[in-house]
Amino acid sequence: MNAPEKVVMDGAAAVIPAAGVSRFHESARAQVAGAAHYIDDLPEVRGTLFAAPVMSNVAHGRLVGIDDTAARAMPGVRDIVYSRDVPGDKMLAAFAGDEPVFAIDTVQHVGQVVGLVVADTVMAARRAARKVKLDIEILPAILSVHEAHAAQSYVLPPVFVKRGDAARALSRAPHTLEGTLEIGGQEHFYLEGQVAYALPQEQNQWLVHSSTQHPGEVQHWVAHALGLHNHAVKVECRRMGGGFGGKETQAGHLAVWAAVAAHKLRCPVKLRFDRDDDFMVTGKRHPFAYKYTVGFDDNGLLSGLKLSMMANCGFSADLSGPVADRAVFHADNAYYLADVDIASYRCKTNTQSHTAFRGFGGPQGVIVIENILGDIARELGLDPLAVRRINLYDAAQPVGTPIDTSPEARNHTHYGMAVEDNILHPLLERLEASSAYQARRSAIALWNAKSPVIKRGIAITPVKFGISFTATLFNQAGALVHVYTDGSVQVNHGGTEMGQGLNTKVAQIVADELGVPFERVMATASDTSKIPNASATAASSGTDLNGRAAQYAARNVRDNLASFVCGLDGCGAGAIRFKGGQVISPVATRDFTDVVQRAYANRIQLWSDGFYRTPKIHYDKATLTGRPFYYFAYGAACSEVAIDMLTGESRVLAVDILHDVGTSINPAIDIGQIEGGFVQGMGWLTTEQLVWNEKGYLSTHAPSTYKIPATGDIPARFQVELWPEANREDNVFGSKAVGEPPFMLAISVYEALKEAIAAARGDGARVLLIAPATAENVLCAVMRPAGAD
Ligand code: MTE
Ligand code: MOS
Repeated sequence: MNAPEKVVMDGAAAVIPAAGVSRFHESARAQVAGAAHYIDDLPEVRGTLFAAPVMSNVAHGRLVGIDDTAARAMPGVRDIVYSRDVPGDKMLAAFAGDEPVFAIDTVQHVGQVVGLVVADTVMAARRAARKVKLDIEILPAILSVHEAHAAQSYVLPPVFVKRGDAARALSRAPHTLEGTLEIGGQEHFYLEGQVAYALPQEQNQWLVHSSTQHPGEVQHWVAHALGLHNHAVKVECRRMGGGFGGKETQAGHLAVWAAVAAHKLRCPVKLRFDRDDDFMVTGKRHPFAYKYTVGFDDNGLLSGLKLSMMANCGFSADLSGPVADRAVFHADNAYYLADVDIASYRCKTNTQSHTAFRGFGGPQGVIVIENILGDIARELGLDPLAVRRINLYDAAQPVGTPIDTSPEARNHTHYGMAVEDNILHPLLERLEASSAYQARRSAIALWNAKSPVIKRGIAITPVKFGISFTATLFNQAGALVHVYTDGSVQVNHGGTEMGQGLNTKVAQIVADELGVPFERVMATASDTSKIPNASATAASSGTDLNGRAAQYAARNVRDNLASFVCGLDGCGAGAIRFKGGQVISPVATRDFTDVVQRAYANRIQLWSDGFYRTPKIHYDKATLTGRPFYYFAYGAACSEVAIDMLTGESRVLAVDILHDVGTSINPAIDIGQIEGGFVQGMGWLTTEQLVWNEKGYLSTHAPSTYKIPATGDIPARFQVELWPEANREDNVFGSKAVGEPPFMLAISVYEALKEAIAAARGDGARVLLIAPATAENVLCAVMRPAGAD
């Protein structure tokens, strides 16, 4: 792993700019000292009670009775809360309106929450929850995406995206391939599990501490369930111990459950899941299945693609619509698809309701086309990198060049957006050289010829990831910047901190804008009473949106100070500079704090709000066409793996990444996001396997059976380099979003594994590797009889 060039220490010379340099995460010291508060660390209010969920043990059934006498008789138990105790709407305010707060008369998955035991201690609540007897008449359950699709069991209607005439292109193509693919889901495995703490306040007002990526939605859901207006509910979140998408909607459920219990018992109630319950109750990354036919020429240039994508959504819609949309938007990854016909099915199954997870459906789109290109290359006996390259979108032209609209231009996505910023041609060239891909590929071929058991593979895959919420309305943000009379600064914005470094970057931007040292600026907890109607911190857009809003807020304060100084010095406003903790006019150089104090004494406003909305974006929800993204983030990875063809075990040996974050606001944090995203993607595709048994019970619900990558799985060689070019669009600081795109770089591991499997087979047959590539799945791919698709 490479260290960022230099991390600037607190108190370093004030002339070093606040942004554009590596800074420690604003909570790093508190976190390593155990002094950073998560929800469960907050001091508990007197009279706080603790809750535990009563869960369905049946995948689908009619709930005919509940016997909780034994549970109620257990020591410390105060009450058990059910649907009938919800004072407001018994359906959650989820956008599709298809989920009850607590199961009402049917249960739809093993782990669905039927009620909540409230007790004096967490353990008493958990023990009693196990004693509640549910009388459920079992109904037929749909447990696989294939069954669901066959039965047309969908949470939302299918979506079709077409361009040109795929059928005609396929009939004319020199070669065609038909195939299927199965990709597993993924548990978020945030270190801090789901938790909420609901506190009744005076006059039916509510304070909810929630570990959530979307405090505004938690506020709305709680108000809806309690039958109150949003203004009566305040939601706060200082930080999460990881969210990864898993706390985008599903943190709201816990907040609502805790609030309903608190409402009934008139006491503060805390609900904190243990890891097993978290696995059983909450949704995961959507597992996907695919069917495709693709046409191509002798060089592997794609012509037509017909693709069906089946997303396993679980029992309710949750975010499945936009997740499946994003999979459609990323089925091209970096490649021009001339004639396309994509069908996207949002299948309803009797499992947890699958939800956002880093990449938000993007990874499930990217992997299918990468899988296809790898297969085409092996079929034609070509280097997969060469096949990937010839299929790329046209290279970016100099900024300001009008987009080429000639028929030969290969620069429009299948959803009609122009790709104007594609830097992958030079980026791949540089990575090919820096990773010594060609030399290693030859060396691997020699190794494989001589090694009877251990086979190696190498692959480079790129990523092009669209940045913005696809739902245009979410691309807005607000912030508040307060300057106090001692010259210290507080910034608050609508985003949430989940470890990704958002608060650090926003504070850096504000410090830079005011020309003060980074240490002067403090970021505070997300709070619905400070910034209303804030979007979820998601779609990697946290810094783009909130960073800009905060920059505008800081700029307003700076402008106030500048005109004040102009008044003193009799100069134009443009002549004032803010730098190094000083305010510099042509007449005098003053300390920032002195200026602030004098401005205060002259009744100048020292705080401001800021608001930002992303320009240029629009799209039609029905046809999925338009410009859903402000820009694309790019990157590529070269991964080398080894497999043992007798046991199916595999290892990732070496990884080289070249990734585009525009002009980095904080290289250390960005590199951390790239490393973390990559390793999380590697886990998704290699070891993290979710197994639901024939009764729909998730049997892998703890780290004993569900394996996330550990330190020992980090490749011995792990090089990360940043692409040195600013964002071509006017984005804050010239930066690009980084939270999700690197996740998809791990698809290079999957493609390298397929190369190794092809070498192990040696028969030229198509490699069919089900993800995750566990030892069993690798072995199945090695041993599969040729021709059995
Ligand atoms: N990094 C850490 N450490 N913890 C997280 O939970 N979530 C990821 C990514 N990086 C996450 C993370 C996801 S899913 C998203 S959408 C982005 O961070 C959200 O933050 P951002 O928009 O500020 O990048
Ligand atoms: Mo990230 S999946 O958009 O929370």
